[in-house]
Amino acid sequence: MTLRLGDIAPDFTQESTEGPIHFHQWAGSNWVVLFSHPADFTPVCTTELGYTAKLKDQFARRNVKALAVSVDPLDSHQRWVADIEETQDVKLNFPILADPDRKVATLYDMIHPNALANLTVRTVFVIDPDKKVRLTLTYPASTGRNFHEILRVIDSLQLTDEHKVATPANWQDGDEVVIVPSLTDADEIARRFPKGYRAVRPYLRLTPQPNR
Ligand code: BEZ
Repeated sequence: MTLRLGDIAPDFTQESTEGPIHFHQWAGSNWVVLFSHPADFTPVCTTELGYTAKLKDQFARRNVKALAVSVDPLDSHQRWVADIEETQDVKLNFPILADPDRKVATLYDMIHPNALANLTVRTVFVIDPDKKVRLTLTYPASTGRNFHEILRVIDSLQLTDEHKVATPANWQDGDEVVIVPSLTDADEIARRFPKGYRAVRPYLRLTPQPNR
């Protein structure tokens, strides 16, 4: 099944390194980053999982839970976790789903057989507290993901959900943002953006980030 932005993220129950996970219940009112890995004991995956663990505070600040998945079985995951912790010098602080029956991989279309037979490629799903898919990314097995980019998109989603703004190219938290073109009422603009704005074009209006 192809998942599109705005779709409800499919629910599932699957074993993990932290016990069985009933996905929607486990997610609760948090945002979730669900990300897949081709296989256990592989070098790029090992660095990705270690790096994600190091971002624990960054995830917590944004009310985000991380959840990894690979098609290897639980006993393999458990041995791999020990390796990740030793080689990446970090304690793993989020679960890895064991998906040997490929239940999650199939639900989320994580296996792209023309790229990598029978294994998940590197997909990322950002899921909001309403369980809606808000971001999908697909990376090849040979390229480790940029987890700062994932955090940046979550910052943008959380900001733009609250304010009538969008974030421009290469935006970083604290930079100027754009006022959505649909907002044209001068009184509402003045109320929402008391620091003012500059109109480069009538459709391109930049304003300081409103939650700063
Ligand atoms: C890795 O995680 O290092 C990896 C996994 C599958 C293919 C290539 C690299």
